[in-house]
Amino acid sequence: MQTISTIKALRACIRQWRQAGHSIAFVPTMGNLHAGHIQLVTTAKQKADKVVVSIFVNPTQFGPTEDFNCYPRTEQQDQAALLENGADLLFLPAETEMYPQPAQTRISVQNLSDMHCGASRPGHFDGVALVVCKLLNMVQPDLLLLGEKDFQQLTIIRRMIADLNIPVEIQGVATVREADGLAMSSRNGYLDQAQRQLAPKLYQALLAARSEILAGNLDFQTIVAIQWQILQQTGFKVEYFNVCRSSDLLAAGAEDNNLVILLAAKLGNTRLIDNICFSRP
Ligand code: PAJ
Repeated sequence: MQTISTIKALRACIRQWRQAGHSIAFVPTMGNLHAGHIQLVTTAKQKADKVVVSIFVNPTQFGPTEDFNCYPRTEQQDQAALLENGADLLFLPAETEMYPQPAQTRISVQNLSDMHCGASRPGHFDGVALVVCKLLNMVQPDLLLLGEKDFQQLTIIRRMIADLNIPVEIQGVATVREADGLAMSSRNGYLDQAQRQLAPKLYQALLAARSEILAGNLDFQTIVAIQWQILQQTGFKVEYFNVCRSSDLLAAGAEDNNLVILLAAKLGNTRLIDNICFSRP
């Protein structure tokens, strides 16, 4: 596996692979890799000849009071994990390589970016869309892999690719979980022992809500209100808990069959998100 930090060297490598007729899959990350990220890499490996992974903690997607400065940076371990799991190229740019000057161009996938996580993180998804668009222009992959863990992010990037006719196929990869159900996340490392014990309750709340819906209860508001209250009593500060249509993330009604339940809650200062996507028969 090569590690490359300049766009010029990245493009040269990609050009060589293209000349040799190789297909290319791309997995963008912010590092501190865990089994969820690795699942994207192994899925990519099955789908394309070459797998490019980027690690870049993207400043434009963090709000002024968010954890950009203390976001875990573990490049040595990440490189070892990528090598072990068959990545072909790690793109590890410095901030000055990605943003030699502050970008004046905004990419804003409207509506989708304002709801759910976007409501409490203004500008976050614009930063995500900008950096993913830039990375796609640099790597020019055939296939982009993103995790369903960040379901709203996946939906927004899907829409950006469609709206801008970016020539890439996009594939979502199912959420990888700890044995107790907690969705793997780089931010789980912020949890203390007591919080870590409570954290799986988030997924349990999603499972309970899904069971109710699959049992035929279509009173989504009450279902959610009950789980919301249980989480609050357990010590979570729930930010949102929404039953949505998986296609456009708008509030689901009784006539909708393809659903996603989106949830964000804080345990102490740590903000956790999770979701469950399913179809009603
Ligand atoms: P990051 O949080 O590092 O996640 C990188 C990719 O891994 C995303 O597509 C995310 O959805 C996926 N992922 C994270 N946890 C996962 C899990 N438990 N199971 C499956 N996939 C998981 O998301 C970002 O970085 C950034 O916003 C980025 C897209 C790189 C743009 O900066």
